[in-house]
Amino acid sequence: MPRQIVLASRPSGWPTEDNFLLTEAGRPDLTDGQVRVRNLFMSVDPYMRGRMNDVKSYVPPFRLGEPLEGGAIGTVIESRSPDLAEGDLVLHTLGWRDEAVLPARQAQKVAATGGLSPSAYLGVLGMPTLTAYVGVLDIAQLKPGDAVFVSGAAGAVGSMAGQIAKLKGAGRVIGSAGTDEKVRWLREIGFDAAFNYRAGSVLDQLREAAPGGIDVYFDNVGADHLDAALVMLNNHGRVAMCGAIAQYNATEPPAGPSNLGLVVSKRLTLRGFIIVDHWHRLPDMIADVGAWLREGKLTHAETIVDGLDHAPGAFIDLLRGANTGKMLVRL
Ligand SMILES: NC(=O)c1ccc[n+]([C@@H]2O[C@H](COP(=O)([O-])OP(=O)(O)OC[C@H]3O[C@@H](n4cnc5c(N)ncnc54)[C@H](OP(=O)(O)O)[C@@H]3O)[C@@H](O)[C@H]2O)c1
Repeated sequence: MPRQIVLASRPSGWPTEDNFLLTEAGRPDLTDGQVRVRNLFMSVDPYMRGRMNDVKSYVPPFRLGEPLEGGAIGTVIESRSPDLAEGDLVLHTLGWRDEAVLPARQAQKVAATGGLSPSAYLGVLGMPTLTAYVGVLDIAQLKPGDAVFVSGAAGAVGSMAGQIAKLKGAGRVIGSAGTDEKVRWLREIGFDAAFNYRAGSVLDQLREAAPGGIDVYFDNVGADHLDAALVMLNNHGRVAMCGAIAQYNATEPPAGPSNLGLVVSKRLTLRGFIIVDHWHRLPDMIADVGAWLREGKLTHAETIVDGLDHAPGAFIDLLRGANTGKMLVRL
């Protein structure tokens, strides 16, 4: 019998395994227009932490006692739609379950990824890379020669943001991450400098890595990282405000940034964005990223956890930093 993960309770602070429950899902008959999809991979993403809270946001909260949702890729195993056939590979938003039943129009048929795992559609050819691409090029308006700082740099979005900046002409790219091993990997994949934010003050380490200051900050972390970036930004610098993961499990407001006044004196641009408003850039991203992958210019990593029963653990580990590159669950 197919299984699913439901929201058992809402976390306060850090989520725990008790907030999730693995249940049998049943196998309902399809109605006209529906398909049944055997999920191959599901994504765990930081934004899901926000959906566990009962607050209004750009996506509705998960409902108590209901299965969780999120990006997934799978194979159609039964179809009552003329638009999709058995065997089609589809991308959709009903992850956290072995099998998904949904209207065919809510499943996007994708081509086999020549040489890449289907999981690529959840990572290097999917939402995280699109977020990096739009954040660097459209939101931060990267200019040739810019010095760029990326926080959360060894993650799905950050590792792509740094490499895309470099491939599009940044002068110097600096990344921060939470372990020495991740820092070494960032240097291997082309970051000019990288530091472990747990090894000392973010500001001191950023100052050393960017003696000429920074022109662009791609913010995945917020808090002390944004605070330090504001100090190191040059006049007319630009910040793509992508996320603030340092605060997602916090029960108290953050200590920083306390220096937002620098936005005025330095004439900075801080611009938030949500990737759902930018899907029209997907073909451009796929064209660029596809070519860079073929030419061996872009490195992507995945951290894969096996089994639906381990999905809650994978999600919690993502928030703790257990992943390098995209965190995924193989079903
Ligand atoms: N605006 C949008 O539309 C959009 C879309 C997708 C993602 N995002 C945001 O982009 C960011 C990255 O997402 P992702 O999917 O690529 O996840 P990810 O970076 O692959 O995974 C999360 C990483 O965050 C780091 N982290 C956790 N707590 C931290 C802390 N207190 N300080 C610094 N780093 C911490 C961990 O790495 P370390 O080992 O380095 O700590 C962890 O691996 C998140 O803020 C997410 O919400 C925004």
